[in-house]
Amino acid sequence: MIYIGCDHGGYSLKLELMSYLEKNGFEFSDMGCNGEAVDYPDIAEKVCEKVLESEENKGILICGTGIGISIAANKIKGIRAALCADWYSAKYTRLHNNANVICMGGRTTGAGSAVEMLDVFLHTEFEGGRHATRIGKIAKLEEK
Ligand code: RB5
Repeated sequence: MIYIGCDHGGYSLKLELMSYLEKNGFEFSDMGCNGEAVDYPDIAEKVCEKVLESEENKGILICGTGIGISIAANKIKGIRAALCADWYSAKYTRLHNNANVICMGGRTTGAGSAVEMLDVFLHTEFEGGRHATRIGKIAKLEEK
């Protein structure tokens, strides 16, 4: 299951991404907002709590720059949120970081790039191996 959320700065881009999800038959749940002013940490928390319910789940978070919402998401234990602005990063954050949340900036990233990034993010599996060791070390940092 995919959980998607945004603040007011990410609302327009969220609509574009939801349209991609719908057209491509992905099951997803929209966790807000609906364009009204909200605080991005609240949306990050809502989406990430759902993502953590299953290892198969993914999250999509969008604010104006993608920065605030990615910082907030990465405070939550078990979340590996990647702020992406290019296709290569969106691909490799799945291959190497096993990112479970992709973050984007609604005021910094065009819809075309965003859709391409989301597409590769959702279709790329974690490579494991030496990268799993590194993910394990990130998990240990969460205990500090
Ligand atoms: C909201 O105006 C804006 O600060 C927010 O969307 C985001 O860019 C924060 O990082």
